[in-house]
Amino acid sequence: MSGRTSIPAFEGDIMLMGAGRMGTAMLKGWLEAGLDPARVVVLDPSPSAEALALIEAHDIRLNPADDAALAPAVLVAAVKPQVMAQALAGLPAAVKRARPLVLSIAAGTPVAAFADALGDAPVVRAMPNTPAALGKGMTGFFASADVSDAQKALARALLGVLGHVTEVTTEADIDKVTAVSGSGPAYVFLLTECLARAARELGLPAEVADELARRTVIGAAALLERSGEDPAALRRAVTSPGGTTEAALEVLMADDDGLCHLMERAVKAAERRARELAGK
Ligand SMILES: NC(=O)c1ccc[n+]([C@@H]2O[C@H](COP(=O)([O-])OP(=O)(O)OC[C@H]3O[C@@H](n4cnc5c(N)ncnc54)[C@H](OP(=O)(O)O)[C@@H]3O)[C@@H](O)[C@H]2O)c1
Repeated sequence: MSGRTSIPAFEGDIMLMGAGRMGTAMLKGWLEAGLDPARVVVLDPSPSAEALALIEAHDIRLNPADDAALAPAVLVAAVKPQVMAQALAGLPAAVKRARPLVLSIAAGTPVAAFADALGDAPVVRAMPNTPAALGKGMTGFFASADVSDAQKALARALLGVLGHVTEVTTEADIDKVTAVSGSGPAYVFLLTECLARAARELGLPAEVADELARRTVIGAAALLERSGEDPAALRRAVTSPGGTTEAALEVLMADDDGLCHLMERAVKAAERRARELAGK
């Protein structure tokens, strides 16, 4: 989380390409972590209002006209995947010559796409998720073979402002990260919707049903975070033999059509789709 992240010392500047939702969350986190704003350059034809406010407040360079001397140590690629190729092609030649560490958070954009555009630049390919906007994200990253240990530590710290960070060892694992934590918030939102719908089916007024479901998910997530216990232990702690929770769990944990089987199928479908989108 931003308050606890410290960015290791490094030479040079950080160039942020794309200051939309994710780019802005990163920029905000870096500044909160003490990064010198003079070492940040933002490239974005239309940054978010929040990014613009930060840029103005900290006098951060935005789309500098004189780009011949730009030689960033890190290029953070935070534009939409569909405009990535065009954005990389439009980078100043000086940036390409600098051979920066590329730190990409773009979904479905392989390391090879950066190698094509930026020669043999070292690439960290990361997959955050939406709670990153609150510093509560889960990010998995893969580092290409030519990323140095120091660059990896820097990338980890730059991503750390979005929340938790973990490294995976193959690029194919990024499709798995996408299927689990990348898309995962949607699964939890659906669970909340389903619980609310079931509550309405029991006859509770819609407003009460929604409140019960939403607050249960929020409270359970907070317990998961604060207790440090694993989820199975927390589940067992609220399951008394012969009680109401056990009656529900017998349905949810049925051998053939229980929630775990459904989740497995869902996550496999997401992983398959991630591979298809990457053209694999
Ligand atoms: N949001 C998420 O939860 C999430 C999760 C995981 C990964 N990601 C990845 O994060 C990346 C950014 O997502 P986002 O939600 O932050 O998108 P976003 O809000 O649309 O931000 C992208 C920003 O890049 C700007 N931009 C467009 N073309 C550009 C160019 N050539 N050079 C520089 N900037 C340019 C956009 O301007 P315009 O608005 O004018 O186009 C916009 O301000 C995506 O690749 C996405 O796959 C997002």
